[in-house]
Amino acid sequence: MHEEVLQAQGLDVFYGTSQVLFNMSLSVRKGETLALLGRNGAGKSTTMKAIAGVIPARKGTVVLHGKPIQGQASHLIARAGIGFVPEDRQIFPDLSVEDNLLIAIKRGVDGADDWSLERVYDMLPLLAPLKNRLGGQLSGGEQQMLTVGRSLMGNPNVLLLDEPSEGLAPIMVQKIGDLIDALRKVGTTIVLAEQNLHFCLGLADRAVVIDKGVDVFVGTIRELNANDDIKQRYLSV
Ligand SMILES: Nc1ncnc2c1ncn2[C@@H]1O[C@H](COP(=O)(O)OP(=O)(O)OP(=O)(O)O)[C@@H](O)[C@H]1O
Ligand SMILES: [Mg+2]
Repeated sequence: MHEEVLQAQGLDVFYGTSQVLFNMSLSVRKGETLALLGRNGAGKSTTMKAIAGVIPARKGTVVLHGKPIQGQASHLIARAGIGFVPEDRQIFPDLSVEDNLLIAIKRGVDGADDWSLERVYDMLPLLAPLKNRLGGQLSGGEQQMLTVGRSLMGNPNVLLLDEPSEGLAPIMVQKIGDLIDALRKVGTTIVLAEQNLHFCLGLADRAVVIDKGVDVFVGTIRELNANDDIKQRYLSV
């Protein structure tokens, strides 16, 4: 039996009058990493924003641990256990690294406080020596680490990572991969939006492929990697 932690079903999302998600669905099981793969503009970020309540879905349901969360304000969805790490990192440039983390402290839904400041520094060793540095003085990779750390401080049940490796130097991409791997090993449930299948291969258990706002493939990451038709049609590989 697989315990579904998060199920988004039949999402329709519009920007103004233009529809960008069409009956989009995905579900994530406890402790797994689900890759949400698709080309530029496919609708990955929109899917995550709709789940996190940053933009409204016109249709569809989002169920977290058996409870519907669609239609709620984003801060309530965060409180319900969704940790969203957006593409455009949104750290506070005038606060120190440590204050950026401390400001995000929140107990989990069942009072969980698994993620202390110490544990976040252990998980993200790169941040500890930077704790007094201002957010605005960090490199892109360091900022990315900080946004993940900040999200962990809220003790989420599911972590939504929107293209965490985007625009980073290869060494930092590697470190982000190592971080996702370490999070998986401690049982974190993750949705990882990516354009790059290769980056997800050793990290994800299953994959959903999105194209033009429609889910066009669901399966294990191995099945996807073996499916040349889907890869050629919908991914840049
Ligand atoms: N604020 C917006 N207003 C209007 N259209 C938008 C807006 N944001 C995104 N779109 C459009 O919605 C579609 C899906 O965009 P989205 O950002 O979800 O794709 P994505 O898969 O995350 O792409 P990328 O890999 O480039 O981040 C695209 O056609 C995009 O142009
Ligand atoms: Mg995006």
